Amino acid sequence: MSSDPAILRSIATAVGTPYWFYDAAVIRQRIANIRELTNAEGLQARFAMKACPATRILQEMAANNIWIDAVSGNEVLRALRAGHAKGQEPPVVCYTADVFRDNALQVVLENGILPNIGSPGMIRDLAEAGYKGRISIRVNPGFGHGHVNACDTGGPSSKHGIWFKDLDKTVALATKHGMKISMLHAHIGSGPQFQELLDNLDKLAGLYAELIPMFPDIEAVSLGGGIPHNYRVPTATQPLDKLRELFIRARQRVSAAASRPLRLEIEPGRYYVAPACTLVTSVTDVKQTTANEKGDGATFAMVDAGFVDLVRPAMYGSWHGISVVGKPEDVPTEPIVVAGPLCESGDVFTRDETELLQPRPLPRPEVGDLLAIRDAGAYGYAMSSNYNSIGRAPQVWVEPDGSRTLISRRETLEDILKAETEQAI
Ligand SMILES: Cc1ncc(COP(=O)(O)O)c(C=O)c1O
Repeated sequence: MSSDPAILRSIATAVGTPYWFYDAAVIRQRIANIRELTNAEGLQARFAMKACPATRILQEMAANNIWIDAVSGNEVLRALRAGHAKGQEPPVVCYTADVFRDNALQVVLENGILPNIGSPGMIRDLAEAGYKGRISIRVNPGFGHGHVNACDTGGPSSKHGIWFKDLDKTVALATKHGMKISMLHAHIGSGPQFQELLDNLDKLAGLYAELIPMFPDIEAVSLGGGIPHNYRVPTATQPLDKLRELFIRARQRVSAAASRPLRLEIEPGRYYVAPACTLVTSVTDVKQTTANEKGDGATFAMVDAGFVDLVRPAMYGSWHGISVVGKPEDVPTEPIVVAGPLCESGDVFTRDETELLQPRPLPRPEVGDLLAIRDAGAYGYAMSSNYNSIGRAPQVWVEPDGSRTLISRRETLEDILKAETEQAI
C-alpha cells in the first residue's frame, strides 16, 4: 500500500507536500507482533509514546491493551484523552523522566499516575507535594547501548536513571517519605545488533534478581524498550521468538528472587511505528556543483521537506531509505544528494554519521517528482519543529481499504504565533 504511486500522488494533490503517510496495516501488524511476543502470563507491553504520539496511534494501542510510557505531563494527558486509563490499578500510564517539568507533577498527582523516578530529587518533589503512594525507580545499570552514541541510555556517561550503586540511598529516602517502590525499570537502548540487545536484557534481568531483596514492595520490573528496526532492510524480520523466551525466563528469575509472581514489562517505541510511515516530499529543483580543491562535485535534488520535518539524518546521521515515486527499480541510477529548504547547510537527508554528504544512488529525479523517505514513523513527526517558521506538515492515516483521514492538518502562521503575547509580568 505505502508504495502505490497513484495513492501517494493523489494525497499530495489533496494536502500538498510534504506530508506524512501512515499505513494502518503496518502499525497493526507491528502491534500484533508485540502482542504475540508478550502473550504469556505476567508479561505486559507498553508503547513509549514519545516515538509517535498521534491520538490515532494511541487509540490503536488502547484498543490492543498496550499500556503507555509517557515522558511529560502533556504526554500523560494525551494518552488519557486517547482512552488510556488513569490510576495505578493497574498502572496503565507510567510517567518516566529525570525531572518534573511544567505540569508533570500536578498531572501525575491528579491522575494517580505511577511516577518512574530517574533522579533522587524527584522523590523530594513528590514528598513536598504530600505524595505517599507507589513509585517506580529507573535504574542506570551501568551498561547498555543506544543506536548511536548520543543515545547512550545506560553507563557512566548516561544522564538517565539512578546509578545502581546508589539505590540503597534512594530506598532510604523513599521509605523516609512513606513511599513504596513497586517497580524497577531500566531502558538500555536499541543497540544496532539484536544479539547485543538479548545479552544486555539478560544481564539486566540478572541485576534485577540481585537487587530485588532490597525492594520488599516490588510488583513489577521493566526491561524498557529498544527493539531495533532494520532501516536498511526494513523487511528483515527480528528473532522475536528468542526475545519472548528471554522475557519468560527473566520473569521466572525475578519472581523467584521476590518469592512471588511479578509482572514483567517492556516498552518499545520505534518497533511499533518506524516502518509504518513515509515522509512524502516534492522535488523542487535539481542542481549541480563541480569538483574543486575543496572536494567532489555533487548533484542536489532539492525537496520541500527538511530537518524541521524529519530531523534524524541531520541529528544522528540516521539512514532512511529514499525512492523516487513511480520510477521503476531497474532504471540507471546516479549519486544524488537529497537536500531540504532550510537556511542550514546541514539540511540534507543523505548524510553519514560524521556529517559528511553521502550521495544516494537514485534514478535522476525531475522537478515535480515525489520522493518517499521511508521508515519515518518513529521520532519523525514527533521530533518535527517550527524552525524557520515552517509549520509542521500534515499527517494522513490510510486504512487497508484505501480510505484516508487527515489526522493533523498543515500548521499555519497562526499556529506558530499562537503562544506569543505582550503580557507584562
Ligand atoms: C525510557 C524509554 N523507554 C522506551 C524507549 C523507546 O525506545 P525505542 O524507541 O528504541 O524502542 C525510550 C527511548 O529512548 C526510552 O527513553
